[in-house]
Amino acid sequence: MDTRRKFLLKSAGAAAMAVLPGCAEEQIGTAGQTMKTNDPKTALILWYSQAGHTARNGRLIGRTLERLGLRVRALDIRECDESTMKNYDLIIMGTPVYYLDVPGNVRDWLRDIPRIEGTPVAAYSTFGGPGDNQYNTAWYLLQLLADRGGVPVGIATFGNMSTFAPTWSMGNEKRILKYRDRPNEEIYRQVRDFAKKVLSTVRGGTPPAFKKEFYAGEFIKGSFQVKLTRLMITRHTIDSKRCTKCGICVEKCPVGVIDIETPHIDKKGCIACMGCVNNCPAQAIDMAFLGKKVYGFRDFLKKHAITIIEPAELRGGGPQPGVS
Ligand SMILES: Cc1cc2nc3c(=O)[nH]c(=O)nc-3n(C[C@H](O)[C@H](O)[C@H](O)COP(=O)(O)O)c2cc1C
Repeated sequence: MDTRRKFLLKSAGAAAMAVLPGCAEEQIGTAGQTMKTNDPKTALILWYSQAGHTARNGRLIGRTLERLGLRVRALDIRECDESTMKNYDLIIMGTPVYYLDVPGNVRDWLRDIPRIEGTPVAAYSTFGGPGDNQYNTAWYLLQLLADRGGVPVGIATFGNMSTFAPTWSMGNEKRILKYRDRPNEEIYRQVRDFAKKVLSTVRGGTPPAFKKEFYAGEFIKGSFQVKLTRLMITRHTIDSKRCTKCGICVEKCPVGVIDIETPHIDKKGCIACMGCVNNCPAQAIDMAFLGKKVYGFRDFLKKHAITIIEPAELRGGGPQPGVS
C-alpha cells in the first residue's frame, strides 16, 4: 500500500515536471567544484533533533570521523556558536523530516549563519518509516548549506520509528510498530558508511552534483501541513497539576512559545513539531488531536517496552537528548 502510494506520488511528480513550468530538474553544486581543502583535519557535525534519532546519528558520524583521524565537534544547532563554523574543514548537518520538509526553524537558522565559503558540506535526514520525502528534505538541507557558500559532498537518509505522536494516539500504533526495531545495526552501518563516503569524496577532490527527486507531495509540504496540523490540534495547554516546571518543554520548543510560569502556550507561533508532548517526563502537555488525547514518544516507547539500541561506539556515552 505504502509502496503503491510512493509510486503514484513519484509518477505524478515526474508528470508535473514534464508539463508545468517551474518544475524543471534541479541540482545543487557542479561536478568538481573547488573546496577550501581536500585534506580535512577538523569536522563540525550539527543536528536539530527533538526525539533523539537525528542526534544519535550525528554522534555516530562524529565518532566514525574521529576514528578516521579527524578532530570532531558534534552538537545541536541550539548549542552552536555560528561564528566558528567557517573554521572547520568539513561540516555535516542532519535534520528530521517534518511535514515532508526541513523544519522551519532549521531553515531560519541556516539563513542567518555567517558564510562558510568553500567548506565541504554534507546533509542527512532522519525519517519515520516507511518515510515520505526524506531524500528531498536532505537535498533541501544541502541546498541551504550550499547557499551559505558550502561545497556539497554528500547526502543520505536514515530510517527509524516515526515520532509523529498523533499517529499512535489516534489508534494507528501498528503503522509505527512495524518499524519498532529501527534504528538497528543495518541503519548504523549506513550511518558509518555515509561518514566514510563523505570523507573519501572530500579527499578525492572532485565533488559530484546532487539532483532533487520528483515527488508530487512537494506541493503540500512544510508550512501548509503545519497550518493544517495546527487546526487539527484541538487542545494544547499545560496541565499545571502535573507540571513539575522542569523546563524541558521550554528547552525543546524551537520557537519559544511555551511559558511554564503563567502557564501558557502561544498556539499561533507553534510549528506543531510535537517536541513538547514527546519530551515531557510528567505527561503535563495536555494536547488533543481531533479531540483525541495525544501522548508522547517517551510514553509510547514505555507502553510497548521498546528500548532504542545505541550503536556500540556510543554506549556509555551519556544520555540521548530527548529520550532517556
Ligand atoms: C511533526 C512531525 C512531522 C513528521 N513528518 C514526517 C514526514 O513528513 N515524513 C517522514 O518520513 N517522517 C516524518 N516524521 C518522522 C520524523 O522525521 C522521524 O521520526 C525523525 O527521525 C525524528 O527525528 P528526531 O528524533 O531527531 O526528532 C515526522 C515527525 C514529526 C514529529
